[in-house]
Amino acid sequence: MSLIGIDLGTTFCAVAALDERGRPFTVPNRDGDVLTPSAVYLAPDGSAVVGQSALDMALEQPDRVATLIKRRMGLPDYGRPVAGREYRPEALSAVILKKLAQDAEAQLGPVTGCVVTVPAYFDDTRRKATMDAGRIAGLNVIDIIDEPSAAALAYAVQQTKGEPPPPQTVLVYDLGGGTFDVTLVKLGRKRFQVLAIEGDVRLGGRDWDERLVNWAADKFVQQFGDDPRADPQSLAHLYATAERAKRALSKMEHASLTVSHGGHKVTLPLPRPEFEAITRDLLVRTRLTTQQVVRQAKVTWDAVDRVLMVGGSTHMPACGRMLTELTGRAPDHSLAVSEVVARGAAVHAGIRADTAAPAGQAPVAPDLADVVEISVNAHSLGVEVRSGAERVNDKLIPKNTQLPAAVVRVYSTAADNQTRVRVRILQGEAHQAEACIPVGECWIDGLPPNLPKGSPVRVKCGVAANGRIEVTATDQTSGRAASASIHRPGGLSDDELARAAEWVRGLKIQ
Ligand SMILES: Nc1ncnc2c1ncn2[C@@H]1O[C@H](COP(=O)(O)OP(=O)(O)OP(=O)(O)O)[C@@H](O)[C@H]1O
Ligand SMILES: [Mg+2]
Repeated sequence: MSLIGIDLGTTFCAVAALDERGRPFTVPNRDGDVLTPSAVYLAPDGSAVVGQSALDMALEQPDRVATLIKRRMGLPDYGRPVAGREYRPEALSAVILKKLAQDAEAQLGPVTGCVVTVPAYFDDTRRKATMDAGRIAGLNVIDIIDEPSAAALAYAVQQTKGEPPPPQTVLVYDLGGGTFDVTLVKLGRKRFQVLAIEGDVRLGGRDWDERLVNWAADKFVQQFGDDPRADPQSLAHLYATAERAKRALSKMEHASLTVSHGGHKVTLPLPRPEFEAITRDLLVRTRLTTQQVVRQAKVTWDAVDRVLMVGGSTHMPACGRMLTELTGRAPDHSLAVSEVVARGAAVHAGIRADTAAPAGQAPVAPDLADVVEISVNAHSLGVEVRSGAERVNDKLIPKNTQLPAAVVRVYSTAADNQTRVRVRILQGEAHQAEACIPVGECWIDGLPPNLPKGSPVRVKCGVAANGRIEVTATDQTSGRAASASIHRPGGLSDDELARAAEWVRGLKIQ
């Protein structure tokens, strides 16, 4: 019986579990690797392959392989067919989750529950999609947790060997393969409190790769007049080569990229300064976001005790240099940057299981007893209201509010005998409603008949500790609860979820 933490990354995944004291350890996959590439190959015989072999297959049969699925989470489809069929991103992610759990079970025995991580900057729609992916995979998803918070938790637990450390404020800079998060966390002895979150759900190592791909392809076009990006197979090879060169440049001053396409081949030398020059603006974006989080938390750099670097892309020397220059502190290198998130998720699973356990039951994580975790919302929660001819975002819960949080609004029915009220729910900071992220419509149904026009309906909108939006409603005339549910335009219906779950249940996954 085990609890696991799963870091479901854009490019790589990791799994961790807890030892008998509640200390996290990484669980390697069947091949003995700590990281499993987030790639799914759908074979002609109807089975699936996940991980490095799937990534290798992408070089030969790119149309049968799905990668970077996390970038599509929250959207209705993967964006292109895989092996000739359209899939929802939740279903493809579920295949990865099932493989990760399967490999973990081979070592740990039955997995009873898991916590899956999400970028702190994920909105409610993407969070829901991640939880749905877990359900499709047949997993008991106890909770989701923000990746930087998970990293901070794992860091704090790692620190408590021996004397508990003094309370400290840490900045977590998490630059992964597809997303960027920066979070300020206050770590106390028994209290982990997120102060502020900023981020970018579409910025990660992949964008550095893309820069290199375009740089190399442009040079190739200049020389041969033929574009390797036009051919999916050449493009897949080019991405693989670019990523290798990028990694090499983290260790060495020089690397090179070999591009072959349409019978031509060229080797392009790439010194580190040139790589840094063609990707500089990407790093600057992370720098601006980092400055913003400190501003949001209303603290100064003096109040920041430590800078933690998380995510594979922080291996790039330019990241550490930029952070040192910006923060005036040398970033902490004591973390296993690719494993801490999964470890923190396992820690969170332990804390959650112990909080929910009946009194008297032996704790899963005795070292973590009484730990309190507090987070904030990464996006403001609002509802759409009319202001003259304009539709504007009426902010109910501003971003970086301590969670859980809830706000009550009273709406009035617009006509006699109205039995339902609909409210559009938004996430985002913009004043204009259309510039925000539409979560969906909250439908308040089942109001009693014969309500006169102008009857009050009390709507409570909240954000749970894990960033999920919750809505409840009461008809104030009768004082009875009305049904309130969120209808999402591109969301996964229960039927679709059941069908996807059936597909994954019957799928042989290697
Ligand atoms: N030595 C290295 N130098 C530069 N980049 C590296 C190195 N090692 C890994 N990376 C990059 O780190 C990224 C993967 O990092 P990580 O595993 O933290 O991301 P992820 O969890 O898949 O993504 P996300 O957290 O954004 O969903 C890839 O883009 C990879 O190319
Ligand atoms: Mg990650």
